[in-house]
Amino acid sequence: MWLERGSRIPYGWHNMVRMLLTCLLLVLGILMPLPVSGQGGNPYDADPAARRAGSALFATRCADCHGADAKGIGAPDLTLLWAAGTDDERVFRTIQRGVPGSNMPSSSAPDKEIWAIVAYLRGISTVSPFENDIGDPEQGRELFLSMCVRCHRVATQGGSLGPDLSRIARIRSRDMLLRSIREPGASVAARYRAVTFITQDDRRIRGVIKSEDAFSIQIADTSERLQGYTKADLREMIHEERSLMPDFGTERLSDSELDDLLRYLSTLRG
Ligand code: HEC
Ligand code: HEC
Repeated sequence: MWLERGSRIPYGWHNMVRMLLTCLLLVLGILMPLPVSGQGGNPYDADPAARRAGSALFATRCADCHGADAKGIGAPDLTLLWAAGTDDERVFRTIQRGVPGSNMPSSSAPDKEIWAIVAYLRGISTVSPFENDIGDPEQGRELFLSMCVRCHRVATQGGSLGPDLSRIARIRSRDMLLRSIREPGASVAARYRAVTFITQDDRRIRGVIKSEDAFSIQIADTSERLQGYTKADLREMIHEERSLMPDFGTERLSDSELDDLLRYLSTLRG
């Protein structure tokens, strides 16, 4: 045959094949949709400089209402928009037009600035909605009450050494939750890093800082007591990278128990 390996293709053939290929590519080019830059159309989506700029713009223009971390004070939590199914374009338009009839103002900022804010918000967003249809929520609740509630609040019950988990399944993916239970040390939110204090009279207190001002500091210790100290009482403060949450490996919590637990968390409505 004429295209057998090793056979020489006459020059004329070569040109014809090339022409056919070119035509084919042209036709495909017309039929195929144009690729969109970034997902959802933000031209600056993957640009770290834009995200930094967006972060600064957010802090000056939006944080008063939406909170410094965008998780909402008097206005909606903006880190859940993508998980709820929005896209970059829609967020862009909302920022540009505002929400008539509400406090949300319109913006006449240049497109580039608005896209930078969108890139920033998307970067800090929790992207994957929680999906879990296995496990037994009743069993999960029992497990939670026996192993977790002393450090974590859900609804109105529970301790505060760790974060409130009432909405956790709305804002974290199943994978992230799995990881934070199996190996909590992997990423610890700054607010919950363990600290050890040594007082002037040589007592050691381990816990997390709950609040702090120039002269005093409030600590939740590992047995969940809130303690106040003046800074003058404290000799040393040792910050740890570790989490105060124990690892729940498979020997303490089997895979099916973990499914129950996650199922229970996903039934909470915040
Ligand atoms: C004066 C307060 C205020 C400021 C400043 C403000 N917002 Fe808002 N924003 C709101 C309120 C209130 C809403 C809820 C509107 C409604 O749906 O009733 C909102 C809604 C939104 C929404 C839609 C949320 C959703 O659930 O669909 C987005 C996106 C948003 N704001 C982004 C921003 C960004 C970005 C900035 C800064 C450029 C900003 N906002 C500045 C008050 C504010
Ligand atoms: C001794 C206290 C303690 C116990 C018991 C404990 N946790 Fe935690 N947990 C923490 C602390 C402190 C953090 C925050 C630091 C970190 O992320 O590791 C945390 C973080 C988490 C997070 C991550 C939250 C986020 O914002 O991403 C999840 C999920 C979680 N815990 C679930 C559980 C579950 C489920 C149990 C029971 C099986 C449990 N914890 C038991 C103290 C505890």
